[in-house]
Amino acid sequence: MLGSLILSASRSPRLRDAVTTVPLTRRVVDRFVAGEGLPDAIAVAADLTARGLLVTVDHLGEDTRDAASAAAVAAAYTGLLDRLAGEGLAGVEVSIKLSAVGQALPRDGGRIALENARAVCAAAARAGTTVTVDMEDHTTVDATLETLRDLRADHPWVGVALQSMLRRTEGDCRDLAGPGSRVRLVKGAYAEPVSVAFGTAGEVDRAYVRCLRILMSGQGYPMVASHDPRMIEIAGALAAEHHRGPDDLEYQMLYGIRTDEQSRLASGGSRVRIYLPYGTDWYGYFMRRLAERPANVAFFLRALAG
Ligand code: FDA
Repeated sequence: MLGSLILSASRSPRLRDAVTTVPLTRRVVDRFVAGEGLPDAIAVAADLTARGLLVTVDHLGEDTRDAASAAAVAAAYTGLLDRLAGEGLAGVEVSIKLSAVGQALPRDGGRIALENARAVCAAAARAGTTVTVDMEDHTTVDATLETLRDLRADHPWVGVALQSMLRRTEGDCRDLAGPGSRVRLVKGAYAEPVSVAFGTAGEVDRAYVRCLRILMSGQGYPMVASHDPRMIEIAGALAAEHHRGPDDLEYQMLYGIRTDEQSRLASGGSRVRIYLPYGTDWYGYFMRRLAERPANVAFFLRALAG
């Protein structure tokens, strides 16, 4: 309830101004974001890698409003990938939101996003790494999966996030459980209407388990993106049931969330990838993290008060 309110309020320009211009916000944002510049992302990615964790870097941004900005985001990604390879961090993959590279543009958004995403995938191929496409709100799912199909024609390793909160997702998991596919299963971070999404946490969790079963019994590579101890335990049990070894799946968590659990899983031999955002456009990402957990709002308000 509080989460939905925060997500709705986060669209208000006045709230955006209030949150982004208070200097103390930075301290709280730093918990979830590597920093604003590319050197910050490189430094944190190197540190996580040295600690035995895998990394996917997200250049923050979404809902880009003009073609030049969309092209600039794609250029930021190609610069990031070149720099990662140059720093010997070629194993670090990237995550990309199609709305950041043009999907939401009123004219030719789909084509522009595809061209920009293709350029990012080509840079990833040169760097010897992979790309995963983030999933945004439900109105974008069909367009995102269509772009994914086009990208995978040239780069079969391109992955995608699917959200168990959406009623359609079990079907999407079935479609994407074939050989070579890489699916990051998440619960979903957007406020969605009950016509398309499950309304309670219990329903979303049960759907997550059903989707996990499909992915684990399929021939692709499941990426279990959750901080929920129950989902992680069930994923481990399903992996064993389907004779998947430690290299046949990975766990993913967000930078700054449940870091002890990240280390515990990695030291037990599991592949654990940290989603590491950086950049100046952190507002939307930050508000979704607040919405997920009321305790974060209290932490934020305490920092402001202090
Ligand atoms: P749940 O929300 O039930 O949380 C379980 C426990 O995790 C909590 O009790 C708490 O301990 C901890 N926790 C969770 N969120 C926290 C927070 N913000 N701060 C502090 N503690 C927290 N979503 C989406 O719609 N599209 C996408 O592309 C992605 N991509 C993505 C990548 C990766 C690697 C991850 C881990 C997550 C995403 N998400 C996402 C976000 C996802 O949809 C979801 O909102 C969050 O992961 C929270 O859900 P959990 O599965 O962690 O469970």
